[in-house]
Amino acid sequence: MTEIPMPAHKPARPFFSSGPCAKPPGWEASKLATDSLGRSHRSKIGKARLQLAIDLTREVLGVPDTHRIGIVPGSDTGAFEMAMWTMLGARKTTMVAWESFGEGWVTDAVKQLKLDPIIVNAPYGEIADLSTLDLSTDICFTWNGTTSGARVPNGDWIADDREGLTFCDATSAVFAYDLPWDKLDVTTFSWQKVLGGEGAHGVIILGPRAVERLESYTPVWPLPKVFRLVSKGKLTEGVFKGETINTPSMLAVEDVIFALEWAKRIGGLPALIARSQANAAALDALVQARPWLGHLAQDVATRSTTSVCLTVEGADEALIKSFASLLEAENAAYDVAGYRDAPPGLRFWCGATVNTADIEALGPWLDWAWAKVQPK
Ligand SMILES: Cc1ncc(COP(=O)(O)O)c(C=O)c1O
Repeated sequence: MTEIPMPAHKPARPFFSSGPCAKPPGWEASKLATDSLGRSHRSKIGKARLQLAIDLTREVLGVPDTHRIGIVPGSDTGAFEMAMWTMLGARKTTMVAWESFGEGWVTDAVKQLKLDPIIVNAPYGEIADLSTLDLSTDICFTWNGTTSGARVPNGDWIADDREGLTFCDATSAVFAYDLPWDKLDVTTFSWQKVLGGEGAHGVIILGPRAVERLESYTPVWPLPKVFRLVSKGKLTEGVFKGETINTPSMLAVEDVIFALEWAKRIGGLPALIARSQANAAALDALVQARPWLGHLAQDVATRSTTSVCLTVEGADEALIKSFASLLEAENAAYDVAGYRDAPPGLRFWCGATVNTADIEALGPWLDWAWAKVQPK
């Protein structure tokens, strides 16, 4: 293959990592409010800023008043494991997994909690047949498979009269899809994904049935302090008003307030969803124009519009590594190699904080890198 000259035009912001993701457009560290830094998180200002982060989350996502929103330790992993550790075991559990993070929750359920769950798997790029799940069991699932680019299309499969609880790891889905809150008893995410915030803290959203479970059921296993949401049989309501279990990073809190205010300013959830869809469409146009690129998720209905995973003709790990390194070295695209446990491929974050023009600018760079990685 002949060499292709290096393209002249680069993406203005070459940030395509699937977590931590690109900061919101216009973000600068100097624009963050700092009055709460160096203060106790339990001071008036500290609590007010934590409460503001919760209130803005509710407003942007349209979370109903029936649901509580808490900021918890340990990023999304902390939030999801908190939910598993505090609520599972009361009834039979179904673990649904279609990529590595979902599989991680299966390992937790089987090896750590020793739950003997029903396990429903699907290969990378696909999701399970959700219509066959037994809703009398508790169901743990990942809405958007960040490492496979496959996502749940909607919540129609979750019956309103379900007996079990639904536990949704929504970390790369929330702020990018319209989630059916009345069907999600527990939802978790971290700020580092679609909002372009920082890691470290997780968010847990609890519906009324989850609260009922927490107040009526005590697991047989010990609970570390960072997982405890109940005191003397009652939900610790303070956690859902910004009285965090332990010390949060107020810098991360200020950062997410910036992101949520940006989200609000540009038009809230519909605008975030539209930006993500436009990015995914722009990337798809690049894929369609290149026979050597394809989608790991074949079915458009279950294809992610955030973590878009691409197959590359004949690629193995070494080729993907070279491809991604070439783009990184030229500051054309950072962090675009697929996840280490996924089939070798490229992955481009298309969440709302990415500008569509930057996805469009990738086309010539993909051709340039592709030519370079061909055997001479
Ligand atoms: C679907 C999913 N679940 C969980 C995690 C872990 O998130 P965190 O690192 O915020 O704990 C990730 C991170 O990429 C993810 O994509």
